[in-house]
Amino acid sequence: MSFNTQLTRLLGIRTPVILPPMAFAAGALLASQVHMAGGFGFLSPTYSGTDAFEREFALARMLLGQPTGALPLGAGFLGWKLDADPAHAALLDVALAHGVRCVWLSFGADLTRWVERVRAHDSTTLVAIQVNSAAEALHAARTWKADIIVAQGIEAGGHGAASAPPLLNLLPQVLRALTVLPAPPPVLAAGGLTSGAHLAAVLALGASGGVFGTRFLATPAALYTPAQKAALLAAPAGAAVRSRAFDALRGTLGWPAGVDGRALAMPAAEAYDGGAPLEDARRVLEDGVRTGDPRAQIVWAGTGVGEVTELQPAKDIVRELHDDAAAHLRASYALLQE
Ligand SMILES: Cc1cc2nc3c(=O)[nH]c(=O)nc-3n(C[C@H](O)[C@H](O)[C@H](O)COP(=O)(O)O)c2cc1C
Repeated sequence: MSFNTQLTRLLGIRTPVILPPMAFAAGALLASQVHMAGGFGFLSPTYSGTDAFEREFALARMLLGQPTGALPLGAGFLGWKLDADPAHAALLDVALAHGVRCVWLSFGADLTRWVERVRAHDSTTLVAIQVNSAAEALHAARTWKADIIVAQGIEAGGHGAASAPPLLNLLPQVLRALTVLPAPPPVLAAGGLTSGAHLAAVLALGASGGVFGTRFLATPAALYTPAQKAALLAAPAGAAVRSRAFDALRGTLGWPAGVDGRALAMPAAEAYDGGAPLEDARRVLEDGVRTGDPRAQIVWAGTGVGEVTELQPAKDIVRELHDDAAAHLRASYALLQE
């Protein structure tokens, strides 16, 4: 049994489960495993130059048994980073040269230039745009003719607009806004999803697929360190909080206005959010590192983190999500009678 959604038809995949590009977390190994299990995977660029990114593609080609030709994977880029750093834009060219099936763009003041770069390279490469509001979705679909819209709710792990509505509100808002278009693109749901029941729920709302970030962090193939994975698995529900402190502590500045991030609560971020000067908050972090406190590390994670309790191979996760979503959709259908 396969799923039949606008997305599965567009990408030729069996299961509408998407691994998003996750900086320092989703590489070629994870993306390839998700692909081979029937979903679709995006690689995040390595931030250490084009050679390292080329090595990722070489690994993907080996794993997929595809030494040449277009690759059935995607790659994701941050708009503000492309704007700010020519070395980052060079990574986009590497991905395009490898014939990735889809380029995912997010978090830029104006993504026009980068959408045009993808279109100019090859008319068959799809463009996915991650958005946090219905207005952004309509703009992306209308102005950039986005092939895929990713609606990211406030529950999401990693970065997002602090003003994003919860997914249950955002997704119907986005779908409704796109109905003014003659041929609306497929919409993916992102934020807090961890289970097949979640996938069934967003498909029932009208999404064409579900994005699972945090769930795929708990895999042997994810690039999180063993300590980050251990913290993720141990984290209870409610442990992932939204703050600007994480970027302030890391010194990763340059995100567009209104963007913050969701990660596991940690004493240094709490100090900063409580009004402590940055140097003091950084000292809390350094002290924690010195004493081996597992909370002295940044672990990006979504609101579903409490439901992610074991490390599993990516292929098992895709299979489980597929089977459980199908069972939930069948059970929902049984609630109806003529
Ligand atoms: C560790 C991590 C890194 C992320 N990096 C990116 C990124 O580079 N670009 C992006 O568009 N989204 C990024 N995201 C957000 C994901 O695209 C997605 O919206 C999110 O993971 C969905 O929420 P979930 O984690 O609750 O499943 C990241 C998320 C995580 C957890």
